[in-house]
Amino acid sequence: MAARNVIPLSDYNISFDSTLTCVADYIRLGRFSSVTVLVDEHTKIHCLPLLQAALGSEFTCNTIEITAGEAHKTLSTCEVVWAGLLELNVDRKGLLVNLGGGVIGDLGGFVASCFKRGIAFIQVPTTLLAQVDASVGGKLGVDFQYGKNIIGLFRNPGLVVVNTGFLGTLPDRQLKNGFSEIFKHALIRDAAQWESLQQLTTLRAGDIEPLVYHSVLIKKQVVEEDPYERNLRKILNFGHTLGHAVEAWSLGHDADPLLHGEAVVVGMIMEAFLSAAHCGLAAKDLENISGTLLRHYGHYALQADAGQLWPYLLMDKKNSDGKVQCVLLNAPGQPVTDMPLTLADVEQAVAYYRSLAV
Ligand SMILES: NC(=O)c1ccc[n+]([C@@H]2O[C@H](COP(=O)([O-])OP(=O)(O)OC[C@H]3O[C@@H](n4cnc5c(N)ncnc54)[C@H](O)[C@@H]3O)[C@@H](O)[C@H]2O)c1
Ligand SMILES: [Zn+2]
Repeated sequence: MAARNVIPLSDYNISFDSTLTCVADYIRLGRFSSVTVLVDEHTKIHCLPLLQAALGSEFTCNTIEITAGEAHKTLSTCEVVWAGLLELNVDRKGLLVNLGGGVIGDLGGFVASCFKRGIAFIQVPTTLLAQVDASVGGKLGVDFQYGKNIIGLFRNPGLVVVNTGFLGTLPDRQLKNGFSEIFKHALIRDAAQWESLQQLTTLRAGDIEPLVYHSVLIKKQVVEEDPYERNLRKILNFGHTLGHAVEAWSLGHDADPLLHGEAVVVGMIMEAFLSAAHCGLAAKDLENISGTLLRHYGHYALQADAGQLWPYLLMDKKNSDGKVQCVLLNAPGQPVTDMPLTLADVEQAVAYYRSLAV
């Protein structure tokens, strides 16, 4: 186990630590003037007691609680947290511990980065999505008006602590939401891992740590090679161009909208189809990608047609020169970036996805 306990990055570590003792070690070494833990109502119940037990009586920690959910990833929630920090007299030597999913991590990191021109923060991700994706790579921020992650910055935490034990209380749907990024990481970077993921019969939290570790390693390698998303990092967007459009559509039209990861699954299937059409992805690989993802996630009754998805695609942050672009695959593990996407492509991809309904 020891060899796979820590993934070092250039300026911080990702520690796999089910005991959370590395948090206490970090606080002790950092000589912080105060420690504040940011939670939401779910992580306060399910995760905070574990952290408090690990910290013991050696440290006094204050807690700031925000309301769970993407709808609260806003500047007004930031103001609540900033006010809380002021009330607690947190100075520039204070530490913020972000204990929660991607919302807590993105918002808490942003809050810490701006408070008194920046205080230290660490990420203790408690959802699978946050462990394999959101907490690695230094992207922080909040939603603004109708756009996701419009206000934000790149800044690395002092430490990321991954304890897959937290996932035991995560609702099944949230667990599968994070699993989609595990599938994505394998598809863009590791054909052998993709082969082994295809053997999974169920997506469960038990024995998940090796999969999380492997996935984090892939994300770490990609973000380290390209921290500011100039080139290689774009491969992380596989499934996300069409996925984001489907996600936005679903949010505006479905009574029970798709979660991000569920929409990305639809996006990966459609982009795998386009990969077979334009980039030589083998028919067998397309069949395996669609088959594996549908087996775990089921088929979403996509009501939107290509013309209705197109406006969302035009707003995609990854576009350049007014052209819609996406990431396709030559083969599992071999992505191609900056592939142009036309309305006709989207029409065909939607038709393919719909044809998979049983
Ligand atoms: N920074 C990045 O690179 C990056 C990457 C991917 C996603 N994100 C962001 O992450 C966010 C989504 O993250 P998420 O899926 O973790 O959502 P989330 O933070 O909303 O958490 C999902 C739900 O699970 C609950 N929860 C968290 N941990 C729990 C636990 N251990 N037991 C029981 N319930 C628990 C939360 O309270 C919440 O209700 C989005 O805002 C997205 O933009 C950021
Ligand atoms: Zn994603």
